[in-house]
Amino acid sequence: MMRKISILDTTLRDGEQSPGASMTREDKVAIARQLVRLNVDVIEAGFPASSPGDFEAVRMVCDAVGDGAVVCALTRAVESDITAAAEALSHAARPRIQTGIGVSESHLRDKLHMTPDECIERIRRTVLFARNLCDDVQFYAEDAARADCAFLARACHAALESGATVINIPDTTGYALPEDFARRIRYLFEQVDGLDEVVLSVHCHDDLGLACALSLAGVAAGASQVDCTINGLGERAGNCALEELVMAIHVHGQEMGVFADVNTRELARTSRLVSSVTGMRVQANKAIVGANAFAHSSGIHQDGVLKNASTYQIIDPVEVGMATSRIVLTARSGHAALEHRLEELGFEFDEDTLDEIYDRFLELADRKREVFDEELESLVGEMGRQSKSIYSLQALQVSTGFPLTPTVTLTLADETGKQHTVATTGDGPINAAYSAVNQIVGVENELLEFDVSAVTHGTDSVGEVYVRISGPEGRVFTGRGADPDIIVSSVRAYLDALNRLLHSQRSESDS
Ligand code: KIV
Ligand code: ZN
Repeated sequence: MMRKISILDTTLRDGEQSPGASMTREDKVAIARQLVRLNVDVIEAGFPASSPGDFEAVRMVCDAVGDGAVVCALTRAVESDITAAAEALSHAARPRIQTGIGVSESHLRDKLHMTPDECIERIRRTVLFARNLCDDVQFYAEDAARADCAFLARACHAALESGATVINIPDTTGYALPEDFARRIRYLFEQVDGLDEVVLSVHCHDDLGLACALSLAGVAAGASQVDCTINGLGERAGNCALEELVMAIHVHGQEMGVFADVNTRELARTSRLVSSVTGMRVQANKAIVGANAFAHSSGIHQDGVLKNASTYQIIDPVEVGMATSRIVLTARSGHAALEHRLEELGFEFDEDTLDEIYDRFLELADRKREVFDEELESLVGEMGRQSKSIYSLQALQVSTGFPLTPTVTLTLADETGKQHTVATTGDGPINAAYSAVNQIVGVENELLEFDVSAVTHGTDSVGEVYVRISGPEGRVFTGRGADPDIIVSSVRAYLDALNRLLHSQRSESDS
């Protein structure tokens, strides 16, 4: 009998905790819809008590998801958090509250200033409180991987007795080794009465690069749910990457006696959407969804793959939706063709937005003849981000070459429509353009990272630029821009990050 492993996606909650990965409510709804297409079992939509924005986002995700997945909201072991979560989930067809508390010695002593007995009492009280508001309650034992095993078992037992339906065992700090983690899970099954009658979940972080290995070890020891994020986003080094875990189960499920009911062909698209919405670029050598994940470069490998792909390939790229699309739109493709293709790619837009996308599409198709799916996705992602612009690019003229001094004339419009033009020089064209942007926007920031790559192959591909900047208080913001002209992409990416910085300064001064 094959055991089903439920997939809880926490991209919208733990994933959003990645520095620079903040998402708007609309971004969260778009990702939640895609997670439904991916067929994940549970979507952790946010932490409603943390801010009114997160509260509203959880509500909107519930409406968008319908009964397509369980929608979960995070709380601390605090009654007011739990009440906020229950209210935010009131529209959910299948709501779940996740509540919990630190259970390791250092969490009890240094963070919570509680005795073990007080902690157990708090677990009993708050899980019961949550159960009175929601039939499905997931209890997390924070820092479980470093906790005293006997105390961890006591904590799980208390949560179970108080009505928890899922027990979540996180390796919050990514500390464990797979065999030790598996032993801990087996110990819990042996020691905690009734644990085998509820869902045991694992939630692993990647501080030692072991999150997926730890999650699989947890599954082998009996866990039947894994918390994951798309592209492995998450606090610090991130969480277990959903695409890695799901494909590991896909490849080795038979021998492990498990399966996950995920639509693997949506993995690549989901990864691209999350990357484009958050501005967190996927490294080229990232397993499953990286640009090089299925590229064979050595002559010996290429020879083998041409004779039989399985010589050097354990997964068919088609299985994860990575095969390059051959569907191309051109400037002759009409509105209906574009709409149809967007629908096939999983996008739904109202008429006005479609008109705007069509105009941008035509502009792109005029400049580069053929527009591939990846470029269409990139353009849609870019437009979504630009709709929140405070400053937008109106015109850019660049003069550069060898041995010329790069010179840029740049015009930005602010949100009142007023245009600002600056002409300046720099060490290179991008340096000149960024200095012109800074002269207009006038907000202190430091460029931490700049990355440019081609969306598809060929010299006429759209060039995508990702930047990371830090603002005056050291907070990190990401930006993304896409255009066939990489200086235009570079300016758009920088403006995107600056617009995010400005928005966050505004919302801080409003609250
Ligand atoms: O890492 C962690 O412990 C968590 C819990 C809130 C589940 O994210
Ligand atoms: Zn976590």
